Amino acid sequence: MKIIKLNAIDSTNTYLKNLLKIEYPADGTIVLANEQLAGRGQRNSSWISKKGESLTFSIFKKYDNLLAEEQFAISMAVALAVKEALTFFGLEDCHIKWPNDILSANRKLCGILIENVLEKNRIKHSVIGIGLNVNETEFDNLPQASSLYRQTGIKYNLDEVFTSLSNAIFEKLKSVEKVPFESLKEAYESHLFRKGKISVFENSAGNRFNGIINGVSNSGELIVQTESATKKFTLKEIKLFY
Ligand code: BTN
Repeated sequence: MKIIKLNAIDSTNTYLKNLLKIEYPADGTIVLANEQLAGRGQRNSSWISKKGESLTFSIFKKYDNLLAEEQFAISMAVALAVKEALTFFGLEDCHIKWPNDILSANRKLCGILIENVLEKNRIKHSVIGIGLNVNETEFDNLPQASSLYRQTGIKYNLDEVFTSLSNAIFEKLKSVEKVPFESLKEAYESHLFRKGKISVFENSAGNRFNGIINGVSNSGELIVQTESATKKFTLKEIKLFY
């Protein structure tokens, strides 16, 4: 496995995507940055991380035979791998907030940004970006954010966390092309934040509504039972609060 270590970069996902324009990296290549200056998140958000206290890296993953309609399997596998690795590090009450935020005691510690490239009806490769708050002690103005340290009281060695986390992700990614989609979905849903509970959502028009999370569709939409009907929502359509 090749690891490209960078001191500072705008975004490790962007770096890998630019690298792809020049050469085709080996499967499993990782770009790891000490400091990310313009980290990107889902829904065009930014990802802010502290130098020396958090992990920011991206994995380049190729697939031989993964159908485009199964791309949510990648998201589920990575979220499950991170969740399991963090539980191993002592994190309690750990859940996956749809689609793939990792929470402990309702606070977000890890964000995942997956960018897939499709060719015909297959997924050729993906850039899987991981941002994990590890040793941060404070999150000014971000009451919903936390770090491994904040949740466990333990200071971690960043290299050790990186090695365990990346190994766990590689291991779980193997299952994407081997394990039936349904069993991955079953495992994912068993750790889904607020599943079966009345939750508060906001639609793209900014209106709030209540609903119960039933699970996810095969294409990764959230299935919500609202007062009027059971509906499927994409990431662009709703935001889950609690
Ligand atoms: C999110 O929660 O919205 C996803 C955040 C993903 C952040 C990681 S940090 C490494 C990689 N590079 C980026 O620019 N983003 C991802």
